[in-house]
Amino acid sequence: MKDKIQSLQTQFAADSKNVDDRMAIQELKTKYIGKKGLITELMSSLKDMDKEDKKTYGQLINQVRTEFVTVIDEKEKSLAQAELDRKLQEETIDVSLPGEKIKRGSLHPFNRIIEDVEDFFVSMGYDVVDGPELETDENCFQRLNVPLGHPARDAQDTFYIDEEYLLRTQTSAVQARTMQENKEKTPIRMICPGKVYRRDDDATHSHQFGQVEGLVVDKDISLADLKGTLELFAKKMLGENTKVRFRPSFFPFTEPSVEVDVSCFKCGGKGCTLCKQTGWIELLGAGMVHPNVLSMGGYDPKVWSGFAFGTGLDRLAMFRYAIPDIRYLYTNDVRFLEQFARKDEENVIK
Ligand code: DAH
Repeated sequence: MKDKIQSLQTQFAADSKNVDDRMAIQELKTKYIGKKGLITELMSSLKDMDKEDKKTYGQLINQVRTEFVTVIDEKEKSLAQAELDRKLQEETIDVSLPGEKIKRGSLHPFNRIIEDVEDFFVSMGYDVVDGPELETDENCFQRLNVPLGHPARDAQDTFYIDEEYLLRTQTSAVQARTMQENKEKTPIRMICPGKVYRRDDDATHSHQFGQVEGLVVDKDISLADLKGTLELFAKKMLGENTKVRFRPSFFPFTEPSVEVDVSCFKCGGKGCTLCKQTGWIELLGAGMVHPNVLSMGGYDPKVWSGFAFGTGLDRLAMFRYAIPDIRYLYTNDVRFLEQFARKDEENVIK
């Protein structure tokens, strides 16, 4: 038995000598001190010995086992230390190395316009509201004083879903919603930017485009309020020197109605190709809310008055950034979009 124990020690010494990775240590463990390992095997061979021998050899084998465990533990510890050292070595950071450039996106010019429009009107106390793109004929037309069979429906070339539903052709639909939803009939000051749809597709028209609608309903609102508001708006969006002019026009939901022109920001009003030599560019439609529209929205036109306006967001973006084709705004070509990155959005160093 003694010999057996000794030869096991010699064997272990040889086997463990060059062991220095995780797998080999595990194998060593299983082979010698595992449940079915050589120590267990030796122990079980004691069962036929007499009591005295069993005790002596049992103790001896246990001692040997402890030796093995100690050796293996040590190997595990030094392996862990070596791994840690290697990691620390590999992960040292050279703070003098140049940073890695990461590409950052920037706001789409369309969203940038929306943000600027919202900032302006919020600063004037307006709420920003939202409405569905799938609208009812009632909100998009009837409640805006455009009854069934009215020619304005044709001009707008509507995408009808069925008799009742359509893709809204104008954010004006949200005027009707806002008035109905305001149950207390308190004053309204809102803008609604959003998408609208029409059957159009060329360099200056897209079947889907953006509009922003504005509605103010209160007591004693006059055309002067409308003019003042839109003048400030035009200056904010297109520059301090922008002049504004009102031309009589017609919209079914406003009376009187006006079309608002701004002085051409390209030539300053002298005349150029952009303004077709007129010095003016048409910016938006507006007017005093028609008494019928107020009544249908539950506001007594003898008590309340209001103004409304609507303009194309794409138009604003095209003017402001001199974009020649509306479709650039919708094709998401990065080479195009990159040009609108602001200084604070340029590629940054990580
Ligand atoms: N909804 C009109 C359009 O799509 C624009 C418009 C004109 C809106 C006059 C208004 C308004 O609120 O008062 O062409």
